[in-house]
Amino acid sequence: MNEQIDTLRVVCRLDELADPGSRAFTMGAGDWPLRGFLVRRGTRVFAYVNRCPHAGHPLNWRPDDFLMPDSSLILCRSHGARFDISTGLCVLGPCSGKSLQSIDVDVQNGYVMLTRDPDELAARFA
Ligand code: FES
Repeated sequence: MNEQIDTLRVVCRLDELADPGSRAFTMGAGDWPLRGFLVRRGTRVFAYVNRCPHAGHPLNWRPDDFLMPDSSLILCRSHGARFDISTGLCVLGPCSGKSLQSIDVDVQNGYVMLTRDPDELAARFA
């Protein structure tokens, strides 16, 4: 029997994410929704706010493009900061030592889910 899914917290299906791969998402209502991105590595999925700790820019220029060509690190396209995928820590670049803001997600019944209400998260990360 399938668990009841809270559709308001569904980001996407796990099989919609390439492995390895990344994907942008916007969730929540109002003028300041939650803007984040997912990175998949095998069965693990990580999520971060799409805001670089260097100058506050979104990390991507093209949709769903958050990784280095070899998919080893997250890349900010603005000034080249690189971040560890599993921790969000900047390991190279102008904000070295600072971290992306992580968003808790889990995988339930094949869906990547926020663990909290998207509007609550949007307000937290505004
Ligand atoms: S805004 Fe990301 S490296 Fe400058």
